[in-house]
Amino acid sequence: MEIAILNDNACARFGADLVEDLLQRKPTAVLGLATGASPLGVYRELGRRVAKGTVNLSGITAFTLDEYLGLPADHPERYRNVILREFANLVGVSAENIHTPDDSATDLDAACEQYERDIARAGGIDLQILGIGTDGHIAFNGPGSSLGSRTRLKALSKQTRIDNARYFDDALDKVPTHCITQGLATILDARHIVLLAEGVRKARAVVQLVDGPVSARWPASILQMHPRVTVILDQSAAQYLRDTDYYQRAFASRAERAAQF
Ligand code: GLP
Repeated sequence: MEIAILNDNACARFGADLVEDLLQRKPTAVLGLATGASPLGVYRELGRRVAKGTVNLSGITAFTLDEYLGLPADHPERYRNVILREFANLVGVSAENIHTPDDSATDLDAACEQYERDIARAGGIDLQILGIGTDGHIAFNGPGSSLGSRTRLKALSKQTRIDNARYFDDALDKVPTHCITQGLATILDARHIVLLAEGVRKARAVVQLVDGPVSARWPASILQMHPRVTVILDQSAAQYLRDTDYYQRAFASRAERAAQF
């Protein structure tokens, strides 16, 4: 894992740099997109770069991680609507190039299998942007999720519903109880994973992600098994990590290397 511990604005800039580097090599890249607050800075930074004309996302295809079940099609918190509003509209990607799990399917299990096939047919995810829940969930894979899981229906954990109530007028009973989510094994298929976490609320999950044992109790810890993960943290989210000096030095030498070659 590469761990970057940066100041607030630098987190979003570095995340956007990684996307921009990929697009320079592959303008038709396949991106994996997370919802939640954590990636918003990256999406907005990419939007600014698109407006300036320094980056072009019009050739990309994107797949989101997950979707609530049971929300009306036009609900502002339905993840398809969130990602069109917070990402596609900002960076100039057309809606048909944004794929989301089909929450309206009559056969939801079939829709999950279809989603896996759609990702494979697109050539797999080149760069997956991730957030992390306070209980260590990624996408909607809460504690106890199978480390080998693929896209499927899930009941949301109580902690996730409490955390997400802020998007539903702080009313727990308005938060959906079920979802479709990419599985942990689906996420691990991405070629590069970029996880962003900011703030003290995430510090406990972050230390389990980086230093903890690999365990379904803290699902994000499975990322330790992936060969190319970049974890972008602010100082608060990184506060319980061991070896932060090493991470800082390694990150600084990365920048020196980039300047040299
Ligand atoms: C939701 C999403 C996750 C996201 C997590 C953290 O539950 N399904 O993909 O990473 O929340 O959200 P935030 O970034 O708002 O803390």
